[in-house]
Amino acid sequence: MKKTLIKNIGMLAVDNHGQHCLCGQDMSHIDIVKDAWLLVEDGRFKEWGSMDDDHLDDIVNGDNMREMETLSVDAEGGAVLPSFCDSHTHLVYADSREGEFVDKIRGLSYEEIARRGGGILNSADRLHEMSEEELFEQAMGRIDEITRKGTGAVEIKSGYGLNTSDELKMLRVIKRIKESTRIKVVATFLGAHAVGREYQGRQDEYVDLIINEMIPEVGKQHLAEFIDVFCDRGFFTPDETSRILEAGAKWGMRGKIHGQELADSGGVEVAVRHGALSVDHLESMTDNDISLLKTQTITIPTALPGTSFFLNMPFAPARKIIDAGLPLALASDYNPGSTPSGDMKFIVSLACIKMRLLPEEAINAATINSAAAMDISKDYGSIARGKVANFFITTKMKDLSFLPYSYTSPTIKRVFLRGEEY
Ligand code: NIG
Ligand code: FE
Repeated sequence: MKKTLIKNIGMLAVDNHGQHCLCGQDMSHIDIVKDAWLLVEDGRFKEWGSMDDDHLDDIVNGDNMREMETLSVDAEGGAVLPSFCDSHTHLVYADSREGEFVDKIRGLSYEEIARRGGGILNSADRLHEMSEEELFEQAMGRIDEITRKGTGAVEIKSGYGLNTSDELKMLRVIKRIKESTRIKVVATFLGAHAVGREYQGRQDEYVDLIINEMIPEVGKQHLAEFIDVFCDRGFFTPDETSRILEAGAKWGMRGKIHGQELADSGGVEVAVRHGALSVDHLESMTDNDISLLKTQTITIPTALPGTSFFLNMPFAPARKIIDAGLPLALASDYNPGSTPSGDMKFIVSLACIKMRLLPEEAINAATINSAAAMDISKDYGSIARGKVANFFITTKMKDLSFLPYSYTSPTIKRVFLRGEEY
């Protein structure tokens, strides 16, 4: 058995309630233990307390402790928070697309770039040419980067294959990442990200290919937990989304939908109707969508403020979502086209600055609620007894709000995954 004792924690953010996800006003609260210690046993959170409480002596000097291999870590007054959970990324991709970044500066919109054969199809062409090994190496570099920035669980989508063999190639890379990293990884099949090059002008046939060939193959090979569709203007319709979600459900894959990004195009309605786990983007969502989401408690609205920032688009109405009593998750959308960053601390800052979330709301949205949007909040997303010990230590700060306030400072100092330092 291995133990790690973190001492001299200035502020320890703990979860005494163990809720699956937080809604509305509950999002504005984080329980803090000041001047604390935290004990991790066998990679899971075991106990915590205050440095001046006698219990610490029992823990350190108890027989139990002496028999075990124990590591003591000095937090030097820094805060300890649960690792970020990033419930929406496309971080397996072949090469960056900074050329399109410059096109955007010159005035082209994201949709115009896509119509000219850039965007997702450009990434699909490059992915087709790239070996599985090279794809894996590139993606592992990004995993290393987000791990150092405090992410401890991540969802990764396919969707740059756009034909059966390349979609499967992407999902095999995601599977290999799962086996090669200590952060938690979940996989989502996104064959319906765009119509593949060979099927241009034959969208119906491409949707049939997804339903009749791709989904059964992904299902048989157990390559994805979830299924996604880019349900938006110029991409897939709500009817097509509905058919794809039904086909995925037969293989046990729950929906995580791209909806209401570019236009009010029915994404929330179809997500709610199918009991999707999350509906993401929401930059163009309406008040009616908020009412629809309130009819059930299954589908977690997820905002991706990094996309609005990078594309210079409106931000999702996150304040309204929370004020309506709904849960909200935050994720990065890390991808080469609309969000070339997986920095969740920056996402938390953007949510505060651009969507008027309180720091506590943004942190909860990027931890416990984002874990719920991957259906893993039983084990991840907060410092609760028995959960996997993924957490980070920050520089010394007086208040948690310093974290989003200091939006480019390297405040995340040390990262621990399953109780061990990264
Ligand atoms: O979530 N919206 C759809 N897909 C991605 C962008 C993918 C790309 O441009 O490569 C997104 O923003
Ligand atoms: Fe996305």
